[in-house]
Amino acid sequence: MSVPQPSGAAHEGGIAAVVVLAAGQGTRMRSSTPKVLHALGGRSMLGHVLAATAPLAARHTLVVVGAGREAVEEHLAQVAPDARPVLQEEQRGSGHAAAVALAAVPDIEGPVLLVNGDAPLLRPETVTTLIDAHRSQGNVLTVLTAEVDDPTGLGRIVRDADGAVRAIVEQRDATPEQREIREVNAGVYVGEVSALRRALGSLGEDNDQGEQYLTDVLGLLVAEGAPVGGAPAEDPVDVLGCNDRRELAARRRTLNDRVLDDLMRAGVTVVDPATTWVDVTVTVAADALLEPGVHLRGTTSVATGAVVGPDTTLVDTAVEEGASVVRSHVLGAVVGPRATVGPFSYLRPGTRLAAGSKVGAFVETKNVQVGEDSKVPHLSYVGDATIGRGSNVGAATVFVNYDGVEKHHTRVGDHVRIGSDTMLVAPVTVGDGAYTAAGSVITTDVPPGAMGVARARQRNVAGWVRRRRPGTAAAKAAEAAGHAGAEAAADTRAEASE
Ligand code: UD1
Ligand code: CA
Repeated sequence: MSVPQPSGAAHEGGIAAVVVLAAGQGTRMRSSTPKVLHALGGRSMLGHVLAATAPLAARHTLVVVGAGREAVEEHLAQVAPDARPVLQEEQRGSGHAAAVALAAVPDIEGPVLLVNGDAPLLRPETVTTLIDAHRSQGNVLTVLTAEVDDPTGLGRIVRDADGAVRAIVEQRDATPEQREIREVNAGVYVGEVSALRRALGSLGEDNDQGEQYLTDVLGLLVAEGAPVGGAPAEDPVDVLGCNDRRELAARRRTLNDRVLDDLMRAGVTVVDPATTWVDVTVTVAADALLEPGVHLRGTTSVATGAVVGPDTTLVDTAVEEGASVVRSHVLGAVVGPRATVGPFSYLRPGTRLAAGSKVGAFVETKNVQVGEDSKVPHLSYVGDATIGRGSNVGAATVFVNYDGVEKHHTRVGDHVRIGSDTMLVAPVTVGDGAYTAAGSVITTDVPPGAMGVARARQRNVAGWVRRRRPGTAAAKAAEAAGHAGAEAAADTRAEASE
């Protein structure tokens, strides 16, 4: 899932570089996946951070990688090819990570934004507010802060009697009095690069973790007498980090609530927000209706008047105006205007349903075009096919597309009637206006207007039950029906005459 890319050149006086700190191990996640690659709402944590900073259009976007660097670099190449990974060989702390990043851009000047890679709820507006405060206060370093109910584990913002920011103290290094402080460091900073380089160069490791803390930069600049400040986030939720799976679940919930709130404000009906999950990358138009148990993921779009759910997952799928998808699982499909899907169907990539068409219950489709007003109502597999307009595919039809080695294509024309339980053995074509007889195995083309029949003729063995199953309920029922005499008659053959 790609994230918005920084566009154009940095404007005059803009941010010279965005530095995302993403080299940490993320031990508390207890995962073989690097922390910043854990996903919520359709993006990795790192992807969310990059999306929040993309509108700055910084000249350089640097991502400090270390733990799990191959995976992080591969992910970056996919979602943010303009971002540049910078390797921090050893994880010697967030300050060391920042120093490594700035060393990779030796000739930049002006303000840089430093941000923790594990802040997935960060919004562009919050970043802008911080930068505006930095400018208006004339600081060399400004830290984003948040007033939280439970500051456990976070760096505390220490202010003096006049309210000026003096230091950031990590929980594990804080005095009992400092631990009472509820204003915390959000892990987002904007600083003038020359001041940052100077302070980062003199960072010590004299703390409980023996690491170079980025947070100590603030105290060092205060000691120099340089102007530093703090800018409180409007919504403290925006800056919550994510260090373990419980926090990941909580952040996911928050992000989802935010997405649903936006949708509802824009005119989407969300029947049950508690069971509706929508990725940040999804679009839903006003007057669409989302029933309970709906999951909309990836590049999915839902148009006005469409109804999705209950209990439906759509991935990278377009549901067009007035269409409906009920209790189904849909991947990479287009459900055209007023088309209907479900209940209980599975649409796979390449499924294209034209206007007014129908895929009913217990149907699997893949790489298929279903023409306008055509129907596949029940219990069928339709793979690698083109179906024209106004056609009907009878119950339990299988498009036999695979010969064990290769996949083959089936063409069904306009206004065709495929009889129930037809096997269409591809490659094969059923011409416009043609029929197939129920139960046929169609292996050769059916010309337009013809009836394709390909099944054994029926033979009735008269009196079989009386002879072979005497005394059974079936025999008694047959006798009562007056068929006893039919025994004498020759076997009858019944087959519809063509
Ligand atoms: C950090 C802050 C803390 C703040 C909190 C907000 C420090 C010392 N503390 O704490 O004040 O309240 O974030 O969430 O920064 N990283 C590297 N290389 C390293 C070490 C860390 O790139 O060698 C990265 C991590 O991947 C992470 C970020 O730096 O994205 C912060 O590190 P983390 O260990 O998560 O710090 P916290 O304890 O959360
Ligand atoms: Ca953290």
